[in-house]
Amino acid sequence: MAHGHEVPVRSKKQEAKAASDCRSVSKMKFSLSLLCLLPSTSAFILPQAEKVSTTSLWGRKPFISGNWKLNPQTRDEAVKLAADIAATVTPESPDADVALFVPYVFIEAAQKSAGDRLFVGAEGVCPEIKGAFTGAVSATMLKSLGVQWALAGHSERRVIFGESDEYINGQCLKLIEQGMSVMLCIGESEAEYEQNLAGPVCAVQLRKGLAGITAEQMSRVAIAYEPVWAIGTGKVATPEIAQSVHATCRGILRDMYGDAIADQTRILYGGSVTPESVDGLMAQPDIDGALVGGASLDAAKFGRIINFQTA
Ligand code: 13P
Repeated sequence: MAHGHEVPVRSKKQEAKAASDCRSVSKMKFSLSLLCLLPSTSAFILPQAEKVSTTSLWGRKPFISGNWKLNPQTRDEAVKLAADIAATVTPESPDADVALFVPYVFIEAAQKSAGDRLFVGAEGVCPEIKGAFTGAVSATMLKSLGVQWALAGHSERRVIFGESDEYINGQCLKLIEQGMSVMLCIGESEAEYEQNLAGPVCAVQLRKGLAGITAEQMSRVAIAYEPVWAIGTGKVATPEIAQSVHATCRGILRDMYGDAIADQTRILYGGSVTPESVDGLMAQPDIDGALVGGASLDAAKFGRIINFQTA
């Protein structure tokens, strides 16, 4: 599903979603030019070792990801959870990228346990490559394990660990420099939301987080919009609220990088996503995936999220 597979043809649902995304002529041109660029699918059977994302080929392929945070408590539990989640990715599952962002110490065990059905990523990275940075883990270290994706800018890192926009930008740049991919997390606090500041807060976090990242490099960037008030609270944003902020974020990307990149970049929603809420969220034209905390620790729940259904 995630790599080492033949690149599949889009499902009808994805085509319908892509069509609704392609309302403007320029968007339509972008989709058509992508299709024209694709040779027959048989040319795209990727060797196992080559863990490449299909982002740049497909534009907005759905992306379902789990963030385990400081869980589970033992390696054995991590191995079982990764295997149980991987088993929910079947040939009938939506054509989506699936990733688990796990604690550093569980990365290799989770990779072995999950096989090639999903990406195993890191929850963060040090913006430095080597030197006297006790406790840090570098992009090169992660890359040497075959890790392709890492999170940057999660609100828990911003608030609890004091990571600044500049530090987060350093993480993004370092991952990109190493040929890796980054999921940049952004989102407003409850107070900011109440003051109608979701758009401006996201604009600042996007502009500062992505500073120095070129249009070409944006194929290795995904954005996760996670309103802080929705994280771990059970207060999932309604599909309409999430869609509205996602559209605003895409507009900011349009301003920064132009139509083609804005239309190609995946924007995931995170914050109390559950099996009950995923379908409504995924049906929105600007919601391209989910970043899931609590529910990703339960294989049955996360499996239902991976197997989201849109009408
Ligand atoms: P919850 O799904 O537990 O609200 O967490 C969301 C999150 O922070 C994912 O990064």
